Amino acid sequence: MPHNIAVLTSGGDAPGMNAAIRAVVRSALHRGWKVIGIASGFAGLLSGEFRGLTRGDVSGIIDKGGTFLRSARSAAFLEEEAQAQAVATLRAHQITGLIVIGGNGSQAGALALAKRAFPVVGIGATIDNDVFGTDLAIGVDTALNIALEAIDRIKVTAASHQRVFLVEVMGRDSGYLALVSGIAGGAELIVIPEFEDDSARMADQLLGAYQRGHAHAIAVVAEGARYDADAFSKHLSADPKYTRIDTRVTKLGHVQRGGAPGVVDRLLASRLGVAACDCFARGEHGVLVGMAAGRVAVTALSTVVSSKKMLDQELIRLSGELAD
Ligand code: F6P
Repeated sequence: MPHNIAVLTSGGDAPGMNAAIRAVVRSALHRGWKVIGIASGFAGLLSGEFRGLTRGDVSGIIDKGGTFLRSARSAAFLEEEAQAQAVATLRAHQITGLIVIGGNGSQAGALALAKRAFPVVGIGATIDNDVFGTDLAIGVDTALNIALEAIDRIKVTAASHQRVFLVEVMGRDSGYLALVSGIAGGAELIVIPEFEDDSARMADQLLGAYQRGHAHAIAVVAEGARYDADAFSKHLSADPKYTRIDTRVTKLGHVQRGGAPGVVDRLLASRLGVAACDCFARGEHGVLVGMAAGRVAVTALSTVVSSKKMLDQELIRLSGELAD
């Protein structure tokens, strides 16, 4: 049966969202289906910002960061009434399936529609990499490379001025970005919410590295950690033991989100966009398509939304060993 698929992007933008939209559109058209783009996420779904998408609409966007459909965080969509209205609007437009590209909040929105018997397929896209059901979310790899480039640059200044830098990366409650960019950036200390250490011990580790080696050090700190960059810096400046070390804080913030997607994100987004269409072709919905051990994996949205994605314990262990 030919489908009339709608697609939206929601939550924080992630590099590769455009590539995912393109894959959905091209794959759906290839199957003889129609595709509707919904602007501004769930907010646009409520206000009826719908338009048909053609092959040409998605040409020249695979290399662009952000999302040409625009994104939003919609508080209104948390209300039951709004969700019922959304389903009614989708049905009124004769839409047979919706693809939701976004992070955990967006997949919770997708599940709310699935619970109202509307066919939905989710695709995990967030730089935080905290979506259960996929080893890697769209946007993570590019954000990591941006963070890594910043760390490498900061290291040059740290060495030139014999300073300690506390580099804060995004990730909300997840330490994934900090852990991986910290390991790859050769940080002397990595601070993540999943492994809260004593502030005095962390400060001593940094001081130890500073004194032992080349009189500079980098700590990569997750924004969600109890000792984020500001709290940690306050701790250092309060103790005379550390005040002789020249310390600076650099928060990378939204710089990590806006880059042009790299090859990993473009390929991942292309695979998942097609995989989402494959789900509808099989009559499978109420699921998220992701990657597990290099293969496409399909997980029920109810499991995705109710499960917490854990950090790889091996990475946590080796980060400690390598920083010592
Ligand atoms: O979820 C992606 C993310 O960039 C988080 O890492 C960060 O905490 C949050 O979004 C920032 O949200 P906003 O762009 O709404 O300020």
